Amino acid sequence: MAIRLGDLAPDFSAETTEGTIQFHEWLGDNWGILFSHPKDFTPVCTTELGTVAKMQEEFAKRNTRVLAVSVDTVADHHEWIKDINETQETTMNYPVIADPDRRVANLYDMIHPNANDTLTVRSVFFIGPDKKVKATLTYPAATGRNFDELLRVLESLQLTANHQVATPANWKNGEDCIVVPSIPNEEIAEKFPKGHTIIKPYLRTTPQPDI
Ligand code: BEZ
Repeated sequence: MAIRLGDLAPDFSAETTEGTIQFHEWLGDNWGILFSHPKDFTPVCTTELGTVAKMQEEFAKRNTRVLAVSVDTVADHHEWIKDINETQETTMNYPVIADPDRRVANLYDMIHPNANDTLTVRSVFFIGPDKKVKATLTYPAATGRNFDELLRVLESLQLTANHQVATPANWKNGEDCIVVPSIPNEEIAEKFPKGHTIIKPYLRTTPQPDI
């Protein structure tokens, strides 16, 4: 069954390149990003895993643990990681789940049979500290993801979880935000002391509140 926003992220135990993990316990109080790769030793996936290794520190700074899943064995993953480190000029620094029986892939509905009946699509699940799914993305095998966009989404999710704002189209960290519609105009000044602009009664902006 499809996993929808607000659902509890299914827990599982799995072998990874960094040992066995129990997913919820491994997440602890952090945010998590679980993302799938169609297969080991494939070109797009190689660039994606290397890109995330280079960005891992940025995710860690935002209290976020990253976890990849691919439908091959731990032994295959370790061989592939040698290639990733060499070709992407990085050192892998986060776990990759070995999912040869597709247990995790099926649990998270990552196999879309009309696209491919054995390999996963490129799924991304953003999971909050409450273990609930906050955002998902799905790309086909031939389209590598933009991990700067994943970081941007994470920043928006973390901001909007703690402040009564939404982020507009193409928002980047540090830019003005939108005051959520549930706040009446007369309460904005008190709630957003940095100031605000009323462009339309339903379109009110304020400087990003957490910086
Ligand atoms: C890739 O990662 O390069 C890839 C995987 C499966 C199908 C097409 C491309």
